[in-house]
Amino acid sequence: MKVFKTIDSIQNYLSINDKNKSLGFVPTMGALHKGHLSIVNKAKNENSIVIVSIFINPTQFNNTDDLNKYPITLENDLKMLETEHCDIVFVPSVNEIYSKSIKSDDFDFDGLDKVMEGEFREGHFDGVGTIVKKLFEIIQPDYAYFGEKDFQQLQIIRKMVEKNNLPVKIIGCEIYREDDGLAMSSRNTRLSAKQRNEAPLIYKTLLKAVKLFPEKDIDFVKNMVKKVFETNDTLVLEYIEIADIETLNPALIKNKDNKYRAFIAVFAGEIRLIDNVDLN
Ligand code: PAF
Repeated sequence: MKVFKTIDSIQNYLSINDKNKSLGFVPTMGALHKGHLSIVNKAKNENSIVIVSIFINPTQFNNTDDLNKYPITLENDLKMLETEHCDIVFVPSVNEIYSKSIKSDDFDFDGLDKVMEGEFREGHFDGVGTIVKKLFEIIQPDYAYFGEKDFQQLQIIRKMVEKNNLPVKIIGCEIYREDDGLAMSSRNTRLSAKQRNEAPLIYKTLLKAVKLFPEKDIDFVKNMVKKVFETNDTLVLEYIEIADIETLNPALIKNKDNKYRAFIAVFAGEIRLIDNVDLN
């Protein structure tokens, strides 16, 4: 497994590689867990060369405390990637990526960024768009893999690729869960024992929503979720939304031709957890 820290070094290496070999790319912010590894594994099965980037992107954090507390486990990450037979890891510094200024570009995502995560995390998706576009330009992958836990991010990246005619195919990867249903996330390691114990309620409640959705109207389902969290003193609901999977517009009534997902964000103390489920 090769590890590169500079743009020049990774580009030089890639330039001597066979152009006919397909390049799969998995961007991450490190603190890797089994969910990331399942994505790397999928990329490995579908490509000749797999590159993983590890870069904690400052421009996508709307909260500096969250950025400062983001777990850094590089040594362990590299060991895990080696075990997964990853070919190349790109670990640039902030200076390498943002040489001029640590700023996001402005994107027009056709409104996909105005709801849910976009509403509660101002500037987050411009930060994500900025880093993902930069990484695509550096690495020029054939396929890039993103987890569906960040479903809104996945749709926004698809939009960015379409609008900028970027020659990369975006692949969504199913959410990887702990045995008790909690969606795997680098932030889970920051949960206290009590918070970790309560956190599976998030997915459990989403599963109730899946069951109710065919029978009940949208408000009923959302109110059920709100009530569950009103009576829990460890988890605080930030939002529950049922949205069309293409436009991400919050749905008021069900249309049989559309597909929907339920999206949720919950605070456990200062740790923010998100999840989503397919309702169809
Ligand atoms: O999903 C993430 O880990 C990040 O948002 C990404 C896509 C690596 C961009 O920094």
